Order: sequence, then C-alpha cells, then structure tokens
Amino acid sequence: MSQKQVFKPNREFAKDARIKNMCEYQALQDYATEDYEGFWGDAAKEKLDWIEPFSNVLDESKAPFVNWFDGGKLNVSAQCIDRHLHVRKNKAAIIFEGDRGDVQTITYLDLYKHVNRFANLLREDFHVKKGDRVVIYMPMIPEAAYAMLACARIGAIHSIVFGGFSSEALRDRIEDAEAKVVITADGAFRKEQPYMLKPVVDAALTGKTPVKKVLVVQRNHEDVEWVAGRDYSYNEMISQKKSKCEPEVMDSEDPLFLLYTSGSTGKPKGVQHNSAGYILWAQMTMEWVFDVKENDTFWCTADIGWITGHTYIVYGPLAMGATTMMFEGVITYPDSGRPWKMVEDHKINQFYTAPTAIRVLHKTGEHEPSKYDLKSLKVLGTVGEPIDPPAWKWYYEEVGKGKCAIVDTYWQTETGGHVISPLPGATPIKPGCATLPLPGIMAEILNPATGEKVGVGEKGYMCITKPWPAQIRGVWGDEERYIKSYFGDVEKDGKPVYFSGDGAVYDEDGYITITGRTDDVMNVSGHRLGTAEVEAAIKKHDNVAEVAVVGKPHPIKGEGIFAYIVLKCDEGVADEVEEVKAINNIIKKEIGSIALCDDIVFAPGLPKTRSGKIMRRILRAIAKGEKITQDISTLEDPGIVAQIEEMVK
Ligand code: WT7
Repeated sequence: MSQKQVFKPNREFAKDARIKNMCEYQALQDYATEDYEGFWGDAAKEKLDWIEPFSNVLDESKAPFVNWFDGGKLNVSAQCIDRHLHVRKNKAAIIFEGDRGDVQTITYLDLYKHVNRFANLLREDFHVKKGDRVVIYMPMIPEAAYAMLACARIGAIHSIVFGGFSSEALRDRIEDAEAKVVITADGAFRKEQPYMLKPVVDAALTGKTPVKKVLVVQRNHEDVEWVAGRDYSYNEMISQKKSKCEPEVMDSEDPLFLLYTSGSTGKPKGVQHNSAGYILWAQMTMEWVFDVKENDTFWCTADIGWITGHTYIVYGPLAMGATTMMFEGVITYPDSGRPWKMVEDHKINQFYTAPTAIRVLHKTGEHEPSKYDLKSLKVLGTVGEPIDPPAWKWYYEEVGKGKCAIVDTYWQTETGGHVISPLPGATPIKPGCATLPLPGIMAEILNPATGEKVGVGEKGYMCITKPWPAQIRGVWGDEERYIKSYFGDVEKDGKPVYFSGDGAVYDEDGYITITGRTDDVMNVSGHRLGTAEVEAAIKKHDNVAEVAVVGKPHPIKGEGIFAYIVLKCDEGVADEVEEVKAINNIIKKEIGSIALCDDIVFAPGLPKTRSGKIMRRILRAIAKGEKITQDISTLEDPGIVAQIEEMVK
C-alpha cells in the first residue's frame, strides 16, 4: 500500500456526518479565510455557555501574546458538566474500566456531585484559591478527571505530571509551578498487581518545597507513609463535603492548566493553556474530527498525563456532552485482544490511539480483532507520530474492516487540539498522511529562509500563520522562552509566525505529510523527550565526562534513544554492564523509565567542530548505520568518527 492510494469516506457514514463532503469543508475554510474573527466569534457564541458575553474576538496587539474573547466570562467545569444537566443528567459521562475488569459508570449528575465535592474540599479544607497551582500525579482513575474539573471549577491551575515520571521530574515541575497542593493516589493496578505513586510524591517533597498539602485517593489500599498535617485521605474527607460548589467566574484568558513538555534545550517548559479558547477548540475538534453522536461511546487510550488525555479524554468529550471511556490498565493485558474486547463490551464507536500502540497490537495480536464484534466502530484515530503504512493498513483493514475512516490527527501540546486532520465524512485519506488543516487553522509549510510556502515535494517547516483560540498562551514564568521557542525561527511577510518544530511536505493534492521533528526533540513511543534532558540526567553520573544523545528509528517505539558516552577514566570501561546499569538507574531517578536508553556506546570522544559544537548529525547517521557522506576533515579530531563507527558496528 503506497501513500498514493486514496480511500474515500464511507458514504453511509458521510450522510450523517457533521461535515459531509469537501465542499462543506472548503466553505468553512473559505469563511475563516475571508472573515477570521467572524468565523471564530460565531463558533464561540454558538458553542460556549457564557456567563457574560465577550466584547472582542481577537487581540493581537501584543503578538505573539494574544487574547481571545476578551470580556467574556465562563467556567470550564460548567461548560463540561452543569450545562448538560438539563438534557442528559442520567447519561454516562465517564465509563471507567479498571485494570482487573471492574467497570464503573459515572453519569453527568454523578460527575457534577463528585466534582463539586472535590472543589469544596480544595477550597474549604486546602484553601486553594483562583490562580493557585495544583499538581496532579494520578493513575488513570475517575478521580483524576474529578481533580482536573474541580480545579477548573474554583479557578485553580492544574499541572498534571504523568505517573511514569520520577520523583526528581515531579519535584522540578512542582517547583517551577510553585504548586501548593499535590493530588495523588496511593497507587493503582497494572497487570493485576498494585503499583505505587505516593512514595514518589513523598520523595519529591523532601527538603524545601512549596507544597503545603497532599490529597491521597486510596485506590489500591496498599500501605503508604503518612505525614501528619500534610497528607489527607480523599476517601475519608469527600463524603462530608457538600455536592454543590459555585463555579468561579473566570475570564476567557484566565489560565486553565499548565502541562510540562520537552523542548530542544533545557528543562521541560510549562505550556500554559487558558480557558475559553482551549475549551472551544477541544469541543469543536471532538465534534468535527471524531464526529461523536449523542449515543456514541468514545475511547481515547492516552494517559491523562499527556495533552491527548487532557483534550480527548476529559475536556473535549465532556464539553460536548459525550460518553468518554477511561481505562486504568495495559492494552496488551491479559492479551492483545484487550482493547477489542473492550470495544465489544462497551460498544465503542470511536477509538483513538498512538501508532506505537497500533504496532504493538499488530505485532502481538494480528488476528485478535477478528475474534471480537467490532461493528460499533465508526472512526479510528491515530496521534503522536507519523504512522507507517503497514500499521495503517492493519488498522484500516483488520480493525476497521475497511469501513471506518482513519483520522491521522496532527497536533501538539502547544496547539491544544488537532490542527491538521482528515474529517471522517469528508476527506479522502491516504496512509500516513495527516491531510489538510482543519477549518479555521491557517497551517502552512514554509521555507524558513524565505517565509514562502514550499512547492510540492519540497520539505519545509510546519507553521501556523495566524493565532488560533487553543494555542499555547505562554511558557510558565518565562516570556522570553515562549517567544524564542515558537516565534523565533520563521517569518512570513516580515512577521514572526508559529513554528511547530516539525518538518512537513505537500503532495500534488496539497495534502500535508509530517516528516518529523527538525530539532533535538525525540518522540519515543509517542512520548516527547528532549535530548538535552536525557543528557542532563546522564551527566549526573560521576564517571561521565561527556554525553550526546540522539534518536534512532525503532520498529515499535518509533524512535529509540541512543547515547554516546565518554567516561572520565582514561583506561576505558572497567565493567560495561555495571556502567550501563548505573546510567539507567540515574535516568530512572531523574526522569523515569520512559527515558531509558536503547543503546549506550562508550566512545573515546565525540565528533566536534573546532569551536566545540557536537556534530549530532554524524552521531545520528552512525546510530542508524548510515554511511557518513559529509566532510569531516574540519572536525577537531576527524579520526574519532571511524573509531565510533567501529564500536557501533
Ligand atoms: C509532536 C507533539 C499531540 C498529542 C500527542 C503528542 C508529533 C503528533 C502526529 C501525527 C506525525 C505527529 C509531532 C509533534 N506528532 N501527531 N499525526 N503525525 N507526527 O503531543 O508530546 O506535544 O508531541 O508529536 O512531532 O510535534 P506532544
């Protein structure tokens, strides 16, 4: 199956789709092009439940800092819950399936009560006020969603830290955001075994910390340490709380959450999303891209610790009044039929996952889908990295039976929601191709040198040339970094434009294929990691003199981590196995297991220019086993290249 093959939308499906054909798509995009503020103003009026209407659609006067829907007042938790009570209070808001198969259905009325009690607890017992930062370090259980929405209800800014991150990574994020509260759980279940989170929080809070209180949800009921006056049991406190809590009246541009993500340099940055623009686009993309209908059940397999979990497990589905599935377990446990069994059991209509998961399910359970009734499926989604044609084909044929659209959604933590994606009832799709910008998104592939749109087949930078409502509003505590990271590389008509960090290319139909990052950011199993971050962790090892980390193509993970390490002792490595172990332990402690290296080479030195810059391009080529074609004679020590090549062979 080559990229040239085109698959038309399922005609039956298209009849009822929100966007039914390419003419409708084009009409929307034309409207946005001709009257940008009209397009977005209409959407915001129609979709959002305003406490007070906005007076201005877009203010670009302080670009690249922008304001959307100024003057408007709303509350995101009310948009996600309260407004549905009149029409769907007994509808399932969240269906939770635990690791061990336990199922819990939470209606919109239940959700209202849980979130209100939670909000009252934070407000009354923990004195959390509007603008305070609350770190959430939680497993995939409904209380994680309640925690997010409770923060939104009282105007606190949540910052979720993925449960796979280590205590040091958690500490960094707590400190950067100056969080005063951490919400966590004792732990949860994975492959029918309890695993722990609370001890990681305890370790992150040793020494000086801004955190005053820790709220612990008891999920697996394992023993945990308890610090008197700091740690509180959610299970004990929550039943005493009232199930009504007035939502804080929030400005459109009041911050909703921070989510730390890796950049090409330095520590992870706190990507800030604000209220109105974010929730508007979360809801609109749910409706357009997944085309979720009133009786549908939507399942996104991401973890709430990533942006996909924020936008497409919690905020997007709930804002539109959908039923969203939440899964605690592992998709390959007890076997690779688990997700398909869940599709059958819960009659899932839209299934959204990452290419790395598709590859694993394909490899370990090629024929599993045919053992289950998957007739409920209408739309299949992928996100996080380019999807390779074999995985795409299996997903389309074995899972979708050739009748489901595959939406290859391209977006980022910074974009808040999808920006380039097929529409399931309209867009003819091609394997591995994110296709076209969504209506309202002015995405263009530009030549960074000239700022002009690139021609067909010519690689360029994936840019967005106009602000959009769900865009990142800032990097927490670092205005300069926001400007430099996103608006420092490309100018169009003399004006800085948003650059994603990704390369991309147009085909003859104007379709966009994302070719991957152009910077030192890696994408490991759909997790974003900066080479600088991994290098900083490895450098903490006493014996390490120098280190360079590069990404290397990996059949399942997409990208694996390849580290070149120069040790301090001249005699070489005494015990390679021990050194590797020590280095992996440091990575686990500093970042977490997601950043463990796939390959470590103890090199005699690193290829550098005479000015001392490490030539990563050469290291990437060596890791891939490619021939070095570039001129290396100008390197400080050209001989080092052959030496390293020999070691990697
Ligand atoms: C990076 C963003 C967006 C949620 C998950 C990751 C890559 C994302 C695609 C896609 C090719 C993709 C990009 C992007 N990416 N979606 N459909 N095709 N690449 O969020 O951690 O912010 O990572 O993921 O490289 O920049 P993130």
